[in-house]
Amino acid sequence: MKAPRILLIVGGGIAAYKACELVRLIRKGGGSVTCVLTNGGAHFVTAMTLAALSENPVHTTLWDLKNEAEMGHIQLSRQADLVVVCPATADLLARMAAGIADDLASTLLLATDKPVLAVPAMNVRMWQHAATRRNVATLRGDGVQVLEPDEGPMACGEFGPGRLPEPVVIWAAIEASLGKYNEHLPLTGKHVLVTAGPTHEPIDPVRYIANRSSGKQGFAIAEAAAIAGARVTLVAGPVVLPTPTGVDRVDVESAREMADAVEAALPADIAVLVAAVADWRAAEYTGRKIKKNGAGPPALALAENPDILAGLAKSNRRPSLLVGFAAETNNVLEHAAEKRLRKGVDWIVANDVSGDVMGGALNTVHIVTAHGTESLPEMPKSDVARALVARIADAFA
Ligand SMILES: Cc1cc2nc3c(=O)[nH]c(=O)nc-3n(C[C@H](O)[C@H](O)[C@H](O)COP(=O)(O)O)c2cc1C
Repeated sequence: MKAPRILLIVGGGIAAYKACELVRLIRKGGGSVTCVLTNGGAHFVTAMTLAALSENPVHTTLWDLKNEAEMGHIQLSRQADLVVVCPATADLLARMAAGIADDLASTLLLATDKPVLAVPAMNVRMWQHAATRRNVATLRGDGVQVLEPDEGPMACGEFGPGRLPEPVVIWAAIEASLGKYNEHLPLTGKHVLVTAGPTHEPIDPVRYIANRSSGKQGFAIAEAAAIAGARVTLVAGPVVLPTPTGVDRVDVESAREMADAVEAALPADIAVLVAAVADWRAAEYTGRKIKKNGAGPPALALAENPDILAGLAKSNRRPSLLVGFAAETNNVLEHAAEKRLRKGVDWIVANDVSGDVMGGALNTVHIVTAHGTESLPEMPKSDVARALVARIADAFA
């Protein structure tokens, strides 16, 4: 592949310093970078730093007589293979979504005919604000790839989603966007099937049996596998999470629907079953709301749900690598090793869910294989996902 040319727009966020490291990584990866620094961005990093790291002139203003005479903003917007906005501030996202062109960065973004990857970073409230949610949805609808920010402690002292992903992750996303199917990506040509979230088992039209799974870990694994070049099918239980870029998502409600969706997604080279599938469902579904009739609570008979993991292990379409998750509250490693053998899967990723792992941002996992157990320290679920996908890629290398 020829050296990719990146136009990097650096916005005015505290994470702008990480854009400097990104410039270094792009160049180390064989790419060339031309930087555009917004007025806001110039408060956080200097044009001199970006020029020295990129070994290219840095563009800061639309009203540059020399530049407009020599190349112009239109040409600048067309010269790159990919436009990366990093950090993409709430303000830049809003201007992009509205089609405003009132400075060099926003004008280039409106004029470009190249793919755009935005890497947002901001305070958690700004990220979760209805206006930002709307802007991100608009941009995704317009074909802009918006990377999900990481969760964790922020520079402002708050905690939550909004942190800029590490530059190595952004570089991996750039590589994936440039040529999703580049032969040098570790999972290119592989189909990865991921399940995520809880299942809901209906009792009557208004009640169901559920569990606390948020789907975050499975969604992060789907995203990491897509970034590693895989074709990814994500079978998701009922969760409100955005679909990771480049992932095919199938939404289901119950365990039986999930089993059918998994079957329909085969064949797959790799399956990572993260969903917290309900073991039991109501034996009988009542089409009408069960009424309180003064005779005490109704007896709720349960029936066993299909075991999707064990079923896949026995299937004649078993993926070459089958990874199951085991949520345990006690004797985590012992139960995980036993589950791996009993269900006939290759790896079990065991996590201790006795704390607030379900729904939380952090996870501590142990990867149990036929060769032993690797225990990872507590880390954000996105990092767990990347670590697991790296090990999967190694297994296929
Ligand atoms: C200290 C400081 C840190 C800031 N950090 C962020 C940030 O991380 N993300 C963000 O969206 N805005 C942040 N802002 C607000 C932006 O700088 C402001 O909206 C600015 O207009 C954005 O400029 P731009 O559109 O050129 O990127 C910060 C402001 C200050 C003063």
